[in-house]
Amino acid sequence: MNIVVAVTGGIAAYKTVHLVRLLVKGGHDVTVVPTEDALRFVGLPTWEAISRKPVTTGVHEDVARVRHVALGQAADLVIVAPATANTIAKMAAGLADDLLGTTLLATTAPVAIAPAMHTEMWRHPATQANIATLRSRGIRIVGPGDGELTGGDSGPGRMLEPEEILDAVLAPARDLTGVRVVISAGGTREPIDPVRFLGNRSSGRQGAALAAEAVARGAEVVLVAANIAPDVLAAAHGATVRPVGTAGELSIAMKDAAASADVVIMAAAVADYRPAHPAEHKLTKEDALLTRIDLVENEDVVAALAASRPAGQTVVAFAAETLTDPDERRARARRKRERKGADLLVVNLADAEHGFEKAENAVEIIGEGGAVVGEASGTKREVAAAIWDRLLAARA
Ligand code: CTP
Repeated sequence: MNIVVAVTGGIAAYKTVHLVRLLVKGGHDVTVVPTEDALRFVGLPTWEAISRKPVTTGVHEDVARVRHVALGQAADLVIVAPATANTIAKMAAGLADDLLGTTLLATTAPVAIAPAMHTEMWRHPATQANIATLRSRGIRIVGPGDGELTGGDSGPGRMLEPEEILDAVLAPARDLTGVRVVISAGGTREPIDPVRFLGNRSSGRQGAALAAEAVARGAEVVLVAANIAPDVLAAAHGATVRPVGTAGELSIAMKDAAASADVVIMAAAVADYRPAHPAEHKLTKEDALLTRIDLVENEDVVAALAASRPAGQTVVAFAAETLTDPDERRARARRKRERKGADLLVVNLADAEHGFEKAENAVEIIGEGGAVVGEASGTKREVAAAIWDRLLAARA
């Protein structure tokens, strides 16, 4: 993430050095924006060394790159730590007389502040009114903690420890708490004989990412895993895994788990047909039996689940399509959603860069009436997060 850490003039600025270090170690791109006052507590070289970036405080430096708004526009997250009573008041009023002020006004990213001040200042009605104003604008107030303060006094006003701030600002939303989720993922294998099967190239990565995201957001997750490699499955840590092999096994496991689920997601690539008479022994060239395989149709699992779903259950189907024309692809996806009786259908483009066996994915989500209700691209985890956001909106 692209994170701006704004530092204001309080003694707790020394703790922010460690916060920046933790963020950089966590792989984030951190830009420190101190106020002039903050530099009286911790100097510019420290911020530059720890963030590995040039640091400026004023709006008249690096003007060519319009730094006073560019920083805020590019940020994915802004953390103000420590946030003094003075800065909180300036934020509430929308003042922009330094780089920190302009950055805060220019950003649409989430903003979190970690207040630090003496107890009297924290409790003052002016500060409390300003905090209420910031909160009403969606700014997250992290702390302050209760404890010993610099003057030897104690009470609320202590800036939280860097680790606590990090946990609070980076913690995912817990908006799936208590939601029971069943996800199928991977690809089924239909035996031809004891050593051969009819299969497909689905790795199970997108389904495992959906499970991981749901676990992180508080859901109870059952993952029906069709032939997923252990390293892929490891991503779904925290989900209950039910391994299956064939479409028939997948159907049984899904029906069992779906009976008590709030959300069912069929991300697995299920074989439409299976060999009618799988051989008990390995077929050989001598038998010359491998030139022809008779097939019988498998059940459409998601259609069956959707048709017999309990009240209030949301059913999501997937479709991997190779049609590159977006209109044709959408038209096919709309027909498929109708046919399956799913609430949402996630269409992913399976081409050289996206889809099967790839880390990245690009999807469109078709909802009620065939409307495109969402789209997402990026890593499979990012796509999973976007699908869950959409799914929750559809359930609301
Ligand atoms: N699916 C299923 N049971 C099957 C086949 C597919 O539950 N026997 C589910 C998949 O898990 C997916 C959705 O149906 O959620 C769409 O799968 P897809 O193979 O694209 O659909 P088909 O109906 O097989 O359509 P197509 O003609 O494109 O193969």
